[in-house]
Amino acid sequence: MKIKVAKDRCVGHARCNAIAPELLTLDDQGYSNVDCKEVPDELQELARRAEKACPERIISIIED
Ligand code: F3S
Repeated sequence: MKIKVAKDRCVGHARCNAIAPELLTLDDQGYSNVDCKEVPDELQELARRAEKACPERIISIIED
């Protein structure tokens, strides 16, 4: 599984980071700095929750 963020459309809600800080990091301004990254097995549930939590709907999951 991979997680992708359309970070050019991030407005800094930071809910992604609150749910999955190990995966969904933020820059100094509080915006997502994630493009696309591999999700370790133990973080897959959190990744799915983070996908649903972004109000801008700019987080997507790519299943293997
Ligand atoms: Fe940005 Fe959505 Fe996270 S707006 S900071 S990707 S919750």
